[in-house]
Amino acid sequence: MQNLKSGVVDEERAREWAQNHVRSVADRLKSKTLERTEAVIPCLEKVLEAFAIERLGNQHFASLTGYGHGDQGREVIDRIFARVLGADKAAVRLQFVSGTHAIAAALFGVLRPGDLFLSITGKPYETLEEVIGLRGSGQGSLIDFGIFYEELALSNETIIDFKALDQALEVPRKMFFIQRSCGYSWRPSLSIDLIEELCERIHQKQPDAICFVDNCYGEFVEDREPTDVGADLIAGSLIKNLGGTIVPTGGYIAGRSDLVEKACCRLTAPGIGSQGGISFDLNRLVLQGLFLAPQMIAESLIGADLICGVFEDLGFAVQPSSREDRGDLIQGIQLDDAEALKVVCKAFQACSPVGAYLEPVPSPMPGYENDLVMAGGTFIDGSTSEFSADAPLRPPYILYVQGGTHRAHIHIALIRALVALTKAGFLDLPQTG
Ligand SMILES: Cc1ncc(COP(=O)(O)O)c(C=O)c1O
Repeated sequence: MQNLKSGVVDEERAREWAQNHVRSVADRLKSKTLERTEAVIPCLEKVLEAFAIERLGNQHFASLTGYGHGDQGREVIDRIFARVLGADKAAVRLQFVSGTHAIAAALFGVLRPGDLFLSITGKPYETLEEVIGLRGSGQGSLIDFGIFYEELALSNETIIDFKALDQALEVPRKMFFIQRSCGYSWRPSLSIDLIEELCERIHQKQPDAICFVDNCYGEFVEDREPTDVGADLIAGSLIKNLGGTIVPTGGYIAGRSDLVEKACCRLTAPGIGSQGGISFDLNRLVLQGLFLAPQMIAESLIGADLICGVFEDLGFAVQPSSREDRGDLIQGIQLDDAEALKVVCKAFQACSPVGAYLEPVPSPMPGYENDLVMAGGTFIDGSTSEFSADAPLRPPYILYVQGGTHRAHIHIALIRALVALTKAGFLDLPQTG
C-alpha cells in the first residue's frame, strides 16, 4: 500500500489510524446507510402482512411428534414463507442440513434420467460440484443418474452471455440453473431485474422449462424475490438470510406447487412429500427469525459497504466495488497472500462473541475442494448471517466476508484487522508530519 514505513509498528498509532480510517469511511457512507435502513420497511411489511393473513398465533409455536402429519405449525410456516417469497408453495424444513441439501433435494426431486440441465451463471457454488458430479465419484450424483449437465461461462461485460444463452435456448432443456449470489467467485451477484429478464427470455422460448434459482445469500437484499419475477423454483438456507441469525438449522424450497412437492418427495419419500416431518418445537425461532431477517440483512449490507470502502480506499481489489449495487450479502476482498488471509481471519475471530480465543486454521471441509480458513465465532455454528469471513486457500486469496447483527461489531472487527495487517507488515502506516 502507499506510504511505506519500515521497522516496528507503533500499535497505539496503528490503532488510532485504523479508528480514523474506519470512522471516515462510515461517515462518508451515511446516506447509503440511511437508504439501507429504510429498505427494511417494504421487506418487513411483507413479513407482517403474511403473519396477519395467516393469523399467526402462539398456538403455532408447538410442534407435533412422530410423523408430524397435520402439523399446524409447519403448515402455517410454509404458507407464510410462500407469501413472503411470492411463491405458490414453500417447504421450510429443519431436516435440511444446509442450503446445499435444499438445492440438492430440488434438483434430484425434479430432474429425471435423460433430462438436460444448464447452468447459465457459470460453475455453480463449490458444494454443488459433487451434487452434479463434476467432482467426486460413486456418490450418486445427478450425472451418475443420467442427467446431462452443461454450463455457460459468464461474460465480463454483461454478467450473462446473452448470445450464448439465445443459442442454448434453441435446444429444449428441462432446467435452467441461475445462481443469484457470487458464492466463492469473483463476479457480481445478480439483481432481481436481471433474474426477471432471464426468466422471461427462457420462458418465451421454452415455456415449460424450469428456471431454478440458488437463492442463498440473496433473500431480502431487494424487496422482490426470484419467485416474484418468474423463477419456477428456488432454494436456500435458514442459517443464512431468512433465518434472521437465530434459526439453528434448516433450509427452504419455494416455487410452483408441483415442483416444491417433488423436491419434498426427495427430502422425505414419495407419497409423504411435504406432509411429514416435525419441527422439534422450533417453530417460534423460525418465525421470529423471519421477522428479524429484514433488519439483520440491512445491518449486514451496511457492514459490507463499510468493509468495501475501508479496503477499497487502501488499494485492495474488492467485489463488489463501492460503485456497484449489491445483490447479496457477500463482500469479496482480494488479499493476494495466504498469510494476510489468516491475519484478517484471526483478527475477526478475536472479535467474535463465541470462540474469540480460537485461532482459525485452514482445514478441509466436506463438499469443498480446497482447504478453507474461516472466522466464524457465531452463536449458530457455521452461520454466515452472523458476521463471518471465510476463504478457500487458493490464489489470489480472496476473503469473502458476510453477515452481521450490528454494524458496530463490524466496525470493531475492521479496526482490529487493520491493526493486525499493519503489525504483520501487509499495510503501512501513513507518515506523520
Ligand atoms: C451461492 C451459494 N449457494 C449455495 C451455498 C451452499 O450453502 P450451504 O453452505 O448452506 O450448504 C452457498 C454457501 O456459501 C453459496 O454461497
